[in-house]
Amino acid sequence: MRGNDSYEMAFADYTVKGNVFEYAIGFFAESCYKLTAKKFVFGAKQGIMRQRKLKSFKKWFNDYVAGFYGDDKYVNANLKLKEQHSLRVCKEMLYLVKELGLEKEQRLLAETIALFHDVGRFKQFVRYKTYTDHKSIDHSLLGIKVLQETNVLDGLQRNEKQLIRKAIEYHGQKELPGRLDGDCLLFCQLIRDADKLDVYYVVARYCRQYRRNPAKFSLELEFPDKPTYTPAVVEDILKGRRTSYSKLRVLNDMRLLQLGWVYDVNFAATLKRIKKRGFLQEIFGFLPETKEIEKVKETILSYVNLRIKKKRKL
Ligand SMILES: [Fe+2]
Repeated sequence: MRGNDSYEMAFADYTVKGNVFEYAIGFFAESCYKLTAKKFVFGAKQGIMRQRKLKSFKKWFNDYVAGFYGDDKYVNANLKLKEQHSLRVCKEMLYLVKELGLEKEQRLLAETIALFHDVGRFKQFVRYKTYTDHKSIDHSLLGIKVLQETNVLDGLQRNEKQLIRKAIEYHGQKELPGRLDGDCLLFCQLIRDADKLDVYYVVARYCRQYRRNPAKFSLELEFPDKPTYTPAVVEDILKGRRTSYSKLRVLNDMRLLQLGWVYDVNFAATLKRIKKRGFLQEIFGFLPETKEIEKVKETILSYVNLRIKKKRKL
């Protein structure tokens, strides 16, 4: 069903303004599930990334990020968001590589990608005071530049550096280029799934905050919170196709779009985690109880269950 289709998705990003959170929504679509059972070209002979290398990357990352903190609380709060996000994505990545049964060297490389995928965010925020790329700079490319300028990847083999750079470059793009295959595709898909897991975590957390106390909710809502939704958005989700951001009118449309992210997930292991953590239920809890929404729920949940049931790792 997914074949070579690609799905557009909204990627929720967030910033803190004093006590005020705001969502900045960017788009990316993702080419889905094209990974074949092809054996990875990355092997022990081609470059061994040892555990100590990863340890040194973690230390470098901590020192690098620490250098951006200053007296400005607003800047500090926003830097903290991305620092914590990066570390959580590392954990999501560890879960994924374990579930997928990847080789040790691949695990280390995947975790390095997770650690560095948003390394451009810190310079971006300090310079532009925003995480919105189209208002500032492409944070993925900036991240690659940071890695190059600081030579932090020195000591890795050329193909390892290349895989890291490509995964970072493509992690936030609308869709992955169709020409990718092998390890490059694998690591690109991994970081997009790991990143998405944390976006769901953040969305679910905000849902809970909103539920607890809507009046005190500190997130700036992009759309009006009305008890309606746009039929065209529902139709897109029911048909398993991308929803255009331009169709969104009310907050429930955004929630529907977030539910539709499951179509963009590459690995069943990611869906398993999304399900286990109740992210979807959390979002469904906000939608009106209508027959249409019930149908959306059925569609999304059976899609997720089917993918999980197939137990196809890659
Ligand atoms: Fe990220």
